[in-house]
Amino acid sequence: MSGPNSEYDPVQVTPLDEEHVNAMREEALAAIAAATDLEALKRVRAEHAGDRSPIALANREIGALPPQARKDAGQRVGQARGLINQALAQRQAELEIEAEARMLVEETVDVTLPWDRATQGARHPITTLSERIADVFVAMGWEVAEGPLVEAEWLNFDALNLGPDHPARTMQDTFWADPPEDHLVLRTHTSPVQARTMLTREPPIYVVCPGRVFRTDEYDATHSPMFHQVEGLVIDEGISMAHLKGTLDHFAESIFGPGIDTRFRPSYFPFTEPSAEVDLRCFVCRGLSPAVDDCRTCKGEGWIEWGGCGVVNPRVLTACGVDSDRYTGFAFGMGIDRTLMFRHGVADMRDMFEGDVRFSTAFGSEL
Ligand code: PHE
Repeated sequence: MSGPNSEYDPVQVTPLDEEHVNAMREEALAAIAAATDLEALKRVRAEHAGDRSPIALANREIGALPPQARKDAGQRVGQARGLINQALAQRQAELEIEAEARMLVEETVDVTLPWDRATQGARHPITTLSERIADVFVAMGWEVAEGPLVEAEWLNFDALNLGPDHPARTMQDTFWADPPEDHLVLRTHTSPVQARTMLTREPPIYVVCPGRVFRTDEYDATHSPMFHQVEGLVIDEGISMAHLKGTLDHFAESIFGPGIDTRFRPSYFPFTEPSAEVDLRCFVCRGLSPAVDDCRTCKGEGWIEWGGCGVVNPRVLTACGVDSDRYTGFAFGMGIDRTLMFRHGVADMRDMFEGDVRFSTAFGSEL
């Protein structure tokens, strides 16, 4: 009968020799000491203390020893493993402290540093309002038309039934460009775009034209020598004042909200007949002032002056090459700056032109 260890082969257990165990231990300890970061230590742990490490394999051999040899070998291997594990734990702790210290240095954030000194730009509220207005009309299928700021005198005045001696020429104080014989002006209104449009397109015409205009006005809280208008022009068959009223009511609602409509007061413009001043129902008191209270937005009027409008004068149609027997049309013109002022409670017109970004940013960065 053979005993349990009768097949004991001393060669197989060479790893349990004192010399071998010491060598494994020293090798492991050296590797642990040499690990410079936690990743490296992880690899060292697997290599020198993991399930398939020499010392773990040696440990498994203990059972194969004759009983009398097990104790010694067991102690040797156990001690070596103990030392290795201890060294691993110690190195782990050291490296963790080191890693944390390094992180603190590398990832330091100086919370006192200014992080966004360059303020974000904002589009000018007049630009965004002009686009919003144009969008209202584009949504109805109109086109956006543009014209030059330096305009031919003829288009700014004559074509619009404002002849050289017409008293209405003095209604608009004009900047004339040098030399006078060029007959150029800084356009005093957006209405020359009406003339340009009729001269270059065939009816039906549905255009809206927002843009800058110039008059020799004082520069104060309610006037500026440069301001903005939006012009609308429709030329088609069977167009009447009713279409104009409906269009302006829709325009008013789109910009000021549901229930805000317009009213017409008889007026005079050389290029329209009949002509009207357009008032906007006050969007704050909804036209109820002064019955309810003295509204600050409309100053107790219940209505806000908004612009001019009318049915295009047949003389203008003829001057611009449109068959006035076949076609009729309407036109309107509003101040965009004024619209912005009462829509947003801007008290001083100059705020819109002085370029202080604090004014623009208050309107947000609407695109
Ligand atoms: N052009 C006129 C103005 O500047 C406004 C207007 C436009 C009136 C179109 C009637 C028709 O005062």
